[in-house]
Amino acid sequence: MFNKLCIIGVGLIGGSVAKAVRANGLAKTIVGYGREQDSINLQTAKRLGVIDEFYIETPVGWVAALSQPNEYQGMLGCQKGGNPTYEAFKDADCVLIATPVASIEAIFEQLKPFWSKDTIYTDVGSTKGSVLAAAERVFGVVPENLVPAHPIAGAEQSGVEAALVDLFFHKRLIITPANNANPEAVQKIKTFWQGQGALVSVMNAQHHDSILAATSHLPHILAFALVDMLGHKDEQTEIFKYAAGGFRDFTRIASSDPTMWVDICKANKQEILPLIEQLSAELAKIHGLLAYDDYQQLFSTFAYAKSARQRFLNQFEDPNMTKSITFHIKNGGRLQGEARVPGDKSMSHRSIMLGSLAEGVTHVKGFLEAEDALATLQAFRDMGVEIEGPVNGELTIHGVGKNGLKAPKNELYLGNSGTSMRLLSGLLAGQPFNSVLTGDKSLSGRPMKRVTEPLALMGADIKTTEKGTAPLYITGKAGQLKGIDYVMPMASAQVKSCLILAGMYAQGATSVTEPAPTRDHTERMLAGFSYPVKKDGSKVTVTADGKLTAADIDVPSDISSAAFFLVGASIAEGSDLLLKHVGINPTRTGVIDILRLMGANIEILNEREVGGEPVADLRVRSAPLKGIDIPEHLVPLAIDEFPVLFVAAACAEGQTRLSGAEELRVKESDRIQVMADGLQILGVDAQPTEDGMIIQGGGNIGGGTVTSHGDHRIAMAFSIAGLRASAAITVLDCANVNTSFPEFKDLVQRLGLDLVCEES
Ligand code: S3P
Repeated sequence: MFNKLCIIGVGLIGGSVAKAVRANGLAKTIVGYGREQDSINLQTAKRLGVIDEFYIETPVGWVAALSQPNEYQGMLGCQKGGNPTYEAFKDADCVLIATPVASIEAIFEQLKPFWSKDTIYTDVGSTKGSVLAAAERVFGVVPENLVPAHPIAGAEQSGVEAALVDLFFHKRLIITPANNANPEAVQKIKTFWQGQGALVSVMNAQHHDSILAATSHLPHILAFALVDMLGHKDEQTEIFKYAAGGFRDFTRIASSDPTMWVDICKANKQEILPLIEQLSAELAKIHGLLAYDDYQQLFSTFAYAKSARQRFLNQFEDPNMTKSITFHIKNGGRLQGEARVPGDKSMSHRSIMLGSLAEGVTHVKGFLEAEDALATLQAFRDMGVEIEGPVNGELTIHGVGKNGLKAPKNELYLGNSGTSMRLLSGLLAGQPFNSVLTGDKSLSGRPMKRVTEPLALMGADIKTTEKGTAPLYITGKAGQLKGIDYVMPMASAQVKSCLILAGMYAQGATSVTEPAPTRDHTERMLAGFSYPVKKDGSKVTVTADGKLTAADIDVPSDISSAAFFLVGASIAEGSDLLLKHVGINPTRTGVIDILRLMGANIEILNEREVGGEPVADLRVRSAPLKGIDIPEHLVPLAIDEFPVLFVAAACAEGQTRLSGAEELRVKESDRIQVMADGLQILGVDAQPTEDGMIIQGGGNIGGGTVTSHGDHRIAMAFSIAGLRASAAITVLDCANVNTSFPEFKDLVQRLGLDLVCEES
């Protein structure tokens, strides 16, 4: 893309650019330029083949270079009597300044006589306002062909020897052009960095500087400050001798170059000073909490920080960067004992949503402390709701009322959770603020038109990708939504709930009719919060007239998590298991009905009602299963349980046929394909169809390695298959079990399945 790229300062950053440029064919010739004291570095760069040639500015200027025999002259490729600065920049189509921010003004002065309109000038400095200000001082106005940039990547080492060809690969890079910048030059610099694999954003310099002050400059100051303080202590008491990994991690950046960091602090002082004040206030707050024994608040502060950090980590969802988890299951075993599986996921989501919109304080018990429900919790914290906990499944939500949510400062990241995204899209469509909903790779591939289309009929303004997937860009239409009478084309509780939540902000009535019964937790919980909901057969209607009054919620165990044990105990001979306090809402018990039709021995004991939801203890003992044609009316009532029901079918005598379950293709993975692939690997005759599967059961389940494709329920289903397998099973990509059932591996182990979890 460039004929000649000239890099001023070929150290770690300049050298890494040169390596990446070469590896990606972004310039024909790469020329290095530096001061006399950089000559060793430049010679090394040339020796290593990082650059093609280099030029050195002599301290006495080019006239002196003429008259003195110059030891560099030969290897510079400089015409005898030539001016190295002129030679270096002559015909360069791009000059990249890769020197510390403090030197930029001097470099501009030096470049000024040679400044060419045919060259694009750029830099890599970590403060950007200072670069534009320096340019203004030197040139009067910022030249149109100056495009400042900042690659957010680095290392503590310096020098070209530490340069890395992939230093910028998949790293953020911010371009901060001045208002008068030439758009073509900006585009070229964008392409140049994208060509090195960087993730490029364009913003104004002030915004850049305020972001970097918070996330880079302040942490460096903090690391330097802590080590400064403790270093002096260490001189007296040798405390470092006993410091471990935490200290090493926290203080890593205090090994950075002090001169460079003084320059950065100086260049970005305006943005940094207020942040130091905020940090001091935060420390004073923590000091106060501790001094006055307010451990609940201290916990809330730490818990919030932990989840905020998780949000930060989630952005690096690149599979190469996240931990991968593999389950190794030893075949055989049986399930025995008593267990209470974690709280219901659907109800946990809704408890946060409705508790937040209620007037008053809602206490929640049995909340599912897993990634999906925590994503919803975080989203509401981001919208200004004060939520204490969770501590052992208990939460206190300080409701803000139906109209009390605040605009989130950032996009709402919802991880893997379809329920969060679809329900929130309805709730946020009618708010007085805009919002953006994002999710992980799986969620970003799932269909959102099923909610955005009916919401558009109500007057909502939600933009998706061309494919109808997230991110969802929601323009809040407070007071402008209109009720509709909508007949859902598919049986989906998420779509129904989304429209009910939108209907609570619409003019007139909003009705949703479902083609088959789906889970009704939204309707039940709304009634529990005294919000008027009308139910007429398969049609549910709400209006905006009503308010939610805080009510305590006791979330029962999730039947979808219990399902793994219902199947596991049924297929593993000698099993006898009691699952306590399981939600048996009739819109969720399809799994019990299907297993019973197959011959399972499941007793429903101690039935009771808790907070408007039926609950029972389930006793399950092993029994011979037989294949069946699964009645289609049970499909929506067992929609999340099919991965493990396929395992039951593989163990049942005869054929099991599922149809009418095309929805399984758009869950966290294509559950028909992924399960059929895995079962076939294990030697089971499983034939996927468009809307279901045909499984010839009764044969042997063999061992082997299967992948869950990041789908939590598939990972757990194949683990359960181990109980009846003839050899060990390895399940890859199990990290997402944490979205619904983080305790799964420990619980299943305790009840009798030999499962080892490997992290890498
Ligand atoms: C859910 C509804 C179902 C289910 C999901 C949770 C809910 O999705 O699969 O796990 O909480 O409303 P659909 O509405 O897409 O069927």
